[in-house]
Amino acid sequence: MITLENINKTFYTKEVETRALENINLTVEAGEFVAIMGPSGCGKSTMLNIMGLLDTPTEGWVIIDDVRADLLYDRDKARIRNQKLGFIFQSFHLIPSLNVLDNVLLPMLYRKGASVSGSKQRALEILDKVGLSHRLKHFPSQLSGGQCQRVAIARALMGQPKVILADEPTGNLDSKMGAEIMDILLRLNQEGTTIVMVTHDEHIARETSRVIRLFDGKLVL
Ligand SMILES: Nc1ncnc2c1ncn2[C@@H]1O[C@H](COP(=O)(O)OP(=O)(O)OP(=O)(O)O)[C@@H](O)[C@H]1O
Ligand SMILES: [Mg+2]
Repeated sequence: MITLENINKTFYTKEVETRALENINLTVEAGEFVAIMGPSGCGKSTMLNIMGLLDTPTEGWVIIDDVRADLLYDRDKARIRNQKLGFIFQSFHLIPSLNVLDNVLLPMLYRKGASVSGSKQRALEILDKVGLSHRLKHFPSQLSGGQCQRVAIARALMGQPKVILADEPTGNLDSKMGAEIMDILLRLNQEGTTIVMVTHDEHIARETSRVIRLFDGKLVL
């Protein structure tokens, strides 16, 4: 599903050079639920961003669904992001001025040919699935953290992604809300969605099918 080949990533700022990833080779198969773990600063978010074509490696390349991403034009990369990948972040990244339903409908604005009524129907179904049917008109500031993250998951699901990339999706939640989010992700995985999730939480990582550990930008085998 997603392969990283010989990935190196170095960040250059005026004075310092940071090697964030070194010689990463990794394949995530379709249907897997992979947890990425490791200490702060070891390169987890960098790796996830490169997998999701949100950032480019300094060396090496990413293959998504048999296509080498570095050989694509930006607009084709954007299409892959929009149609195959769904993103979830620790801080939810919802639009404060949009209500729950409109936040979930947002990705459809970027999709040519999506019907408005069809999209709305789908959004309502997905919001039902994540247990938010009763909060459609609420704004993010009126929701709990767990509810905000469920909105973010619903938004990610609108595009019917093959892969969900989640960067510490339970990081800002207490353990009960974290467990609820994990239940939703496990259900999505059972339904066939591939998931790659960064987490600091060993309990949560234990529920996935594979744990990958990074240390100082390198995979720990
Ligand atoms: N845009 C950037 N410019 C310069 N250095 C960066 C940039 N982004 C990340 N880094 C550096 O790359 C290294 C890896 O960062 P990354 O965010 O991937 O770590 P992480 O494992 O996700 O950490 P955390 O658990 O704290 O989120 C760190 O040393 C960080 O300072
Ligand atoms: Mg991070």
